Amino acid sequence: MDQAERLRKMISMQESDQPLARVITVTSGKGGVGKSSVSVNLAIELTKAGKRVVILDADFGLANIEVMLGIRPQYNIGDLIYKDKTIEEIVTKGPLGIGFISGGSGVQELVNLDSNQVNQLIQKLSKLDSIADVIIIDTGAGISNTVLEFVLFSSEILLVVTPEPTSITDAYALLKVLNRKKVFNEQEKTLSILANRVENINEGKELFQKLSVVADKFLNLKLNYLGCVPNDQLMQKAVLSQQPVTLAYPKALATEAFTSISEGILCQETAVQKDNVGITNVFLKLIRRRRK
Ligand SMILES: Nc1ncnc2c1ncn2[C@@H]1O[C@H](COP(=O)(O)OP(=O)(O)OP(=O)(O)O)[C@@H](O)[C@H]1O
Ligand SMILES: [Mg+2]
Repeated sequence: MDQAERLRKMISMQESDQPLARVITVTSGKGGVGKSSVSVNLAIELTKAGKRVVILDADFGLANIEVMLGIRPQYNIGDLIYKDKTIEEIVTKGPLGIGFISGGSGVQELVNLDSNQVNQLIQKLSKLDSIADVIIIDTGAGISNTVLEFVLFSSEILLVVTPEPTSITDAYALLKVLNRKKVFNEQEKTLSILANRVENINEGKELFQKLSVVADKFLNLKLNYLGCVPNDQLMQKAVLSQQPVTLAYPKALATEAFTSISEGILCQETAVQKDNVGITNVFLKLIRRRRK
């Protein structure tokens, strides 16, 4: 048993009587389909429903969640190690008390940690599993290594798809790449589809049907439909005022959709909890894989 493994055992023993945070990784095949919007608005809705939510921004491109929430974090996840910060110090509070952690360059740097630093990181991260009920990881788009790793090691994946043909083919391509990885199939996963920017409910359902039929037939993957969010101009208007639509426009159609999707996510709770690995394990697995 190596050091990291021992630590993981220790953590799981410590936490056996305390449920781990539910980790939902939001991803997509194609960029710009609404991952960050979905992450933020679901965080708001889940918070309204009484959950303690933290968003982890694992996207290294534009800091779009920061813009959407109107916040500017001072630290990123790497500062847990490099600046010896605590979890509380790297979590920035947004609207309704939602926590936000910037991945920044920190996630890329994890590969350079020595064993002591890994242990330190894991111990600190385990705190996150106890201060949050739900952790939403917003990833970048596509098949880059970092995105794939977060998706590979999360037990719940929320795949955002829009009706554009390239969005559907890219989502399928992502599933195909994931399915080829051995680790992907080693652990039970919930793969949920959210249809974004649809014209009506039927368009969402059809989109899901198309994707789930091919995923089942060619990849033997079972997809779960979470629902759809309409194409709503108030979404863009909200971004301009640096507020999520669910806060800026409580009566918007998009807000209604996010409320109902969040209810659906809460209904899955008992079913997904048994496969939940918590945020600590997602990182532990990710670091170990990179070191191989
Ligand atoms: N349902 C919707 N209706 C209208 N506009 C939307 C909707 N969802 C997202 N948008 C708009 O689409 C744009 C891209 O959204 P967002 O930044 O959330 O996508 P993303 O997938 O995170 O992008 P990236 O791949 O660059 O990270 C934003 O301007 C957002 O306001
Ligand atoms: Mg984004």
